[in-house]
Amino acid sequence: MRIGLIGGSGLYEIEGLEITNEVSISTPYGNPSSVYKIGTIDDKEIVFLPRHGTPHTIPPHKINYRANIWGFKSLDVDRIISVSAVGGINKDFFPGHIVLLDQIIDMTYGARESTFYDKESVIHIDFTDPYCPEMRDFIIKASHNIKLPVKPSGTYICVNGPRLETAKEIQFFSMIGADVVGMTAMPEASLARELEMCICGISVVTNYAAGISDKKLTATEVVETMKNSINNIKSLVKEVIKH
Ligand code: HPA
Repeated sequence: MRIGLIGGSGLYEIEGLEITNEVSISTPYGNPSSVYKIGTIDDKEIVFLPRHGTPHTIPPHKINYRANIWGFKSLDVDRIISVSAVGGINKDFFPGHIVLLDQIIDMTYGARESTFYDKESVIHIDFTDPYCPEMRDFIIKASHNIKLPVKPSGTYICVNGPRLETAKEIQFFSMIGADVVGMTAMPEASLARELEMCICGISVVTNYAAGISDKKLTATEVVETMKNSINNIKSLVKEVIKH
């Protein structure tokens, strides 16, 4: 079993990861966001890819999700941990909270290439549970082991970006059951499912979504909150990989 880790904004490396190999892959769908770093933490292997490239230059709508997921598959990864920054819509989800995602609402459109089945043969994958329930349970246990409070479930609504949302959009997203909003979960999760990989989503709430608090959202707030939470995420990932 090989585990892949997709790092989102703020997660560009993992301390303690001893890199044994860096692999540059070109795929039938173009190039992934960066080289894949293969390494070990406590003798356990992990394949790491920063979603937005190195340095962070690829915006959410320009990420080559197909190449990224294909690259993991070609490296024999069968489980992916996907880390991302999100805005909190649900009033119980505060900046700094870590959410183990269980559902997705996809509001992306347009330019994102979102399937490997765009040729003659189409397979309509089951996507009832977009994230792997077993992996989520496993991560919940890992969070207990290290005494890290997490939100054990949450619905991620994926917007196209790169602009942030209007207050009314967020109000609408809240009404249809979204807890957090971000720009990268789709089509990443469905592409992983198309290639029969198990994926789980760990999100850090970096800010209140538009209109949820009176304060205007700034990019600095997102970066600062992520910085503060990143050590928790790293500890959680390490605990998951150890077992
Ligand atoms: N909206 C969309 N994406 C995000 C946000 C947000 O408020 N925060 C972090 N990623």
